[in-house]
Amino acid sequence: MTADLSPIDKAKFVAAKRAVDYVEDGMRVGLGTGSTAAWMVRCLGEMVREDGIRVTGVATSSRTADLARQVGVPISTLDEVKWLDLTIDGADEYDPRLNLIKGGGGALLQEKIVATASDQMIVIADAGKQVDTLGAFPLPVEVIPFGWQTSKALIEEMLANLEVTGRSVSLRLDNGAPYRTDENNFILDLHLRQIADPHQVSMVLNQVPGVVENGLFLDICDIVVIGGGDGSVEVRDINNGTVEHEQIDIVDTDNLFVDVQD
Ligand code: 5RP
Repeated sequence: MTADLSPIDKAKFVAAKRAVDYVEDGMRVGLGTGSTAAWMVRCLGEMVREDGIRVTGVATSSRTADLARQVGVPISTLDEVKWLDLTIDGADEYDPRLNLIKGGGGALLQEKIVATASDQMIVIADAGKQVDTLGAFPLPVEVIPFGWQTSKALIEEMLANLEVTGRSVSLRLDNGAPYRTDENNFILDLHLRQIADPHQVSMVLNQVPGVVENGLFLDICDIVVIGGGDGSVEVRDINNGTVEHEQIDIVDTDNLFVDVQD
């Protein structure tokens, strides 16, 4: 079935397949959210079912938890596990320092908590997510529903004094109604185009009353695994400064789709 994948799905699949090489027997693993992370959960499920590897997964969304259960990855809670060896997640953008924008799939809050509670964070992505400067992808900001319009106005006011190229803010919608996160919050998408100082923007945003968290993941990611539609992967490690290129064998296996209904 993997032979039928589109180039973009192949890129996501090989990035995920390479990333699960970092998972060792007995590890506690944070499971990201999104289409790339879903491939990782399937690959991990295959390792559990076929190789008997023992892992404890902590999901970053109800979607990921459902998928993990379907493919046989044992799930626990962060409160039970407390600390993780590794988190593997996707991203909407990554820059040369491996700073990220996340939250396109609406799971930024749990994703940031889980990634921060991990010894190591590995991001899996295709090359299209790479940028020189973060901000082309709208920056998601999770806000509580109470007084969200006031939070939005305060964010707009703060943006006027920040070095960003765009300043419009929109409420994320789902079928005409406000999109709801797993925590039942809303998401504001900030169309900033270019963020000159992500640390400053992140700090300022999190001071606005009503803001729960923003989608800037700064100094959290250790490794990015970039997949290509031809089965190539590039592994960049920001801590030891290495860049490695490899080719992943795409073996046609239906096992990845065992019990998966989505
Ligand atoms: C979800 C996320 C995702 O990791 C991000 O949106 C990338 O998703 P995909 O792999 O589907 O492109 O941050 O909140």
